[in-house]
Amino acid sequence: MSEQLAPGTQDRTATLLGWAIFVTFAILFLNIVTLPRTPLGERDSLQLWHDSLGWVVGILCWVRLYWFVKGPKPQPPAGMSEDSFAFSRAILFMLVLVFALEFLIGIFYAWGEGRQVHFFGAIFPQLADTTEDLRKMTGYPHSALAFYYLMLFTIWLVLGFWQNRKYKSGWRRLFPGEKV
Ligand code: HEM
Repeated sequence: MSEQLAPGTQDRTATLLGWAIFVTFAILFLNIVTLPRTPLGERDSLQLWHDSLGWVVGILCWVRLYWFVKGPKPQPPAGMSEDSFAFSRAILFMLVLVFALEFLIGIFYAWGEGRQVHFFGAIFPQLADTTEDLRKMTGYPHSALAFYYLMLFTIWLVLGFWQNRKYKSGWRRLFPGEKV
């Protein structure tokens, strides 16, 4: 798509998707922090919200990945090198990809644990048998990827800090919005 964007800006679709992912993931993150600290057997409503928000974050992220490929390409902010800008775009792409994968892995993890997958009160039909292998094969990556996206967040902030010092590119671009 050839829409010409001003340097350091992105299109409206990318901006809206960015805000939607940021807000829904922030709520899911509160759930993620609480879930493992809640005794088994007392997790029903937390699991319902985990899955339901997980669906929203997951689907938004797959749409965002499609728009990364098909949407208009943002240009670096004035003065920033192509390479430095490409690095921050790559981190953002990986962050969205990890969330999108966590969603798919989570569904199979729930089935591996022998629990139903919720969608705001509706139950998603079980498409894979509950086995110990499935639980192990999906449970570890579902937990481990949480540490990976925390690392990506950290690199995103440190790189943003460095780019602001070197290119005076500002802080606003580290948060959802038109600036990138
Ligand atoms: C429909 C989507 C999802 C399903 C069915 C799902 C399923 C699960 C299950 C079964 C657990 C184990 C805790 C429990 O239920 O008692 C869990 C924990 C967790 N989930 Fe999900 N999940 C989903 C989406 C997501 C998403 C989108 C993310 C992150 C972007 C995520 C990150 C986590 C984390 C970090 C934990 C805690 C892991 C731990 O401490 O062991 N989940 N999820």
